[in-house]
Amino acid sequence: MPKKVAMIGTGYVGLVTGVCFASKGHDVTCVDVIPEKVEQINEGKTPIFEPGLEELLLNARKEGRLEATLDVASAIKKAELIFIAVPTPSKEDGSIDLSFIEEVSHTIGKTIREVTDKKTVVVKSTVIPGTTEKVVGRIIEEESGKKRGIGFGLAMNPEFLKEGKAVEDFLDPDRIVIGAIDSESFNEVKALYEWAEAPILETSPTTAELIKYAANSFLAMKISFINEIANYCELLDVDVKDVAQGIGLDERISPKFLRAGAGFGGSCFPKDVAALYSHSKQLGRELILLRSTLEVNKQQPLRTVELLREEVGDLSGKTIAILGLAFKPDTDDMREAASIPIIEQLIKEGARVKATDPIAIPNAKKILSHPNINYYDKINDVLKEADALILVTEWDEYRQLSPSDLKSLMKGDVVIDGRRIWNPELFHKHGLRYRGIGLGKKKN
Ligand code: UDX
Repeated sequence: MPKKVAMIGTGYVGLVTGVCFASKGHDVTCVDVIPEKVEQINEGKTPIFEPGLEELLLNARKEGRLEATLDVASAIKKAELIFIAVPTPSKEDGSIDLSFIEEVSHTIGKTIREVTDKKTVVVKSTVIPGTTEKVVGRIIEEESGKKRGIGFGLAMNPEFLKEGKAVEDFLDPDRIVIGAIDSESFNEVKALYEWAEAPILETSPTTAELIKYAANSFLAMKISFINEIANYCELLDVDVKDVAQGIGLDERISPKFLRAGAGFGGSCFPKDVAALYSHSKQLGRELILLRSTLEVNKQQPLRTVELLREEVGDLSGKTIAILGLAFKPDTDDMREAASIPIIEQLIKEGARVKATDPIAIPNAKKILSHPNINYYDKINDVLKEADALILVTEWDEYRQLSPSDLKSLMKGDVVIDGRRIWNPELFHKHGLRYRGIGLGKKKN
């Protein structure tokens, strides 16, 4: 049975969720406060870069199952399910900023005061455990004069979407978690996922909130773990790739998320681990592994600069080429990208930076601007006059670069592989001084 859904917030998660629900036959109204975004969506264009999304959006628009609006009250009034998908940014101290969640909860409460039908409010945003019940539920009760479970339903339904694979992840999930206050709320949300073959977990809202944080923290911890082992490998002249393979074949460990490199970035891992850590401290039970996960990740990008210094010496006046700016390939997202601390450190040490990325340059320019940083669209332009290069993001087109091309284009001969995409022996054969994260000097 198709459901009527209001999706409040058409950022990354809201838009993907809204479009995918519409593609499964539900009637979706996307709400945003930015007029240009609303216009774009109604024209069938996606404001974000995400493979497969525009096609689904266009189709949903054609079939009349999706529209965008600035009018939040009318969207809420006509919906059976109201999703909250607004941002939950970090404050300076790493704790979560719930102001958007609170604002939307006030609006929902005020609006459902005026209606007679029972609606279900679903939190999709990543929120600290307890938020759905203690913040969202409380505010809606106060504003609407209705009781949860009687006047409105309440649930938390976390997302597990990777950028660049979000549509795929949504349509073919590993699991669906629905944390509901009662079985009626659970069944309402479950009805949206009739098409899915994945197991559906029924939990409390607080459990669902923690599942999301624990999943991201575990994956982030796995990356920091292999990065620590990588740094240690360098001292032993052992290749971390061999170690990752050796441990990854143990089914209990699995090979996924064991790629050592310049650290994790993006909109989720750094923010979520910091928020959970900060919350644990507030509750007086500090999650020590999370603190270490963040500490390792803070150091890790700079490991590339240390390797560079070991080869080049003083960086002052040197020209360093940066290949890749986005926090991972196939996205233009610069949030918490490893390229930021790396470039900042190079500038601090007096180097000149020439940077390139297939699509993230416009976003990078907003964050990294300095007379000694220049951006180029073409790889060749970046390599010209470079004393050394640091590979920061493993875009496919960088994998294809041959050592002989690098050798002939660069002024210097130092290559720092921050994601271990190249073959050290081959680079060495071509007379390049190749260093990689998690690879001792002798192994080169
Ligand atoms: C992540 C989670 O995977 C997703 O489930 C959640 O909903 C949002 O956060 P995303 O941030 O899109 O998704 O990217 P992901 O592909 O998980 O990579 C995150 C970061 O970890 C990237 O910077 C990537 O380069 C890094 N990473 C990943 C590693 O350094 N090594 C690895 O082995 C895997």
